[in-house]
Amino acid sequence: MSNKAARNLFIFGSLFFFVILVILTFDTLAKLPKRAPEITEEVNAGKMVWHKYDCIGCHTILGNGSYFAPDMTKVTERKPKEYLKQFLMDPKSVNPKASMPKFGITSEEAEKLIAFLDWISKVDTNGWPPKPILATAAGVAGRELTSGQRLYQSLGCSNCHMINGIGGTTGPDLTHVGSKKDRVWLFGHFKDPKAYVPNSVMPGFGHLSEQELNDLTDYMIALK
Ligand code: HEC
Ligand code: HEC
Repeated sequence: MSNKAARNLFIFGSLFFFVILVILTFDTLAKLPKRAPEITEEVNAGKMVWHKYDCIGCHTILGNGSYFAPDMTKVTERKPKEYLKQFLMDPKSVNPKASMPKFGITSEEAEKLIAFLDWISKVDTNGWPPKPILATAAGVAGRELTSGQRLYQSLGCSNCHMINGIGGTTGPDLTHVGSKKDRVWLFGHFKDPKAYVPNSVMPGFGHLSEQELNDLTDYMIALK
């Protein structure tokens, strides 16, 4: 290649990729506002509370923060709001083993924080952070799931419970729950957890059909 050809290749090559960069930059800027819902007063107030207690000193959000405590990006998708509120105000009342300190967060502050976390969870993050692979958790990778196992996945039980090492630690590990609880207890507890465990923060599943509750119970009984 002559010097002239090499120079032209360099100049036009650079120009070509520069133009592509400019186009992609504009494209991204145009899409950004559509990736998050509107910021309300309450969301803004929640962000102030988030800073006041330095939550980011322990948690990550959208990839920023510390790795001491769980990521908060999609927490309102994973946990019901009543649970979150009670946890924020007094972590140990929800989970005696919790190591998050009780900061003295008031009921209003907790609601603002949840509004902020809910806003964050609705930001389109291209599927990040990834969800755990639940088929393996159910111990049935590569096999057809039973209806109880499918319900377990679709109802988000693994956000709070662990089976075979995969899932959350909010509630008890269910790997061997079938040897600890009987059908009647499990069925009744699904309908109304508080009737069996007075301070339970597990949401009730009384809205499910009799058949679905039986399927879930069958699955639990099989975990021995
Ligand atoms: C000193 C470190 C620390 C600080 C500061 C902290 N947290 Fe936590 N947080 C934790 C830990 C550790 C956990 C995991 C559960 C446990 O062991 O308590 C947790 C759990 C949580 C959970 C429950 C998550 C779940 O999936 O059950 C929420 C919600 C939460 N934190 C929100 C906050 C908010 C909001 C703030 C600021 C007001 C905050 N945290 C400040 C350490 C902290
Ligand atoms: C928001 C968190 C949360 C969700 C979601 C949740 N649980 Fe729970 N679960 C708990 C907590 C906390 C306990 C302990 C208190 C109690 O027994 O009610 C518990 C207890 C249990 C127990 C009794 C276990 C034992 O050893 O005492 C079973 C069984 C159970 N959950 C199954 C399920 C199933 C199945 C689902 C989904 C349909 C589910 N849970 C959804 C938090 C949750």
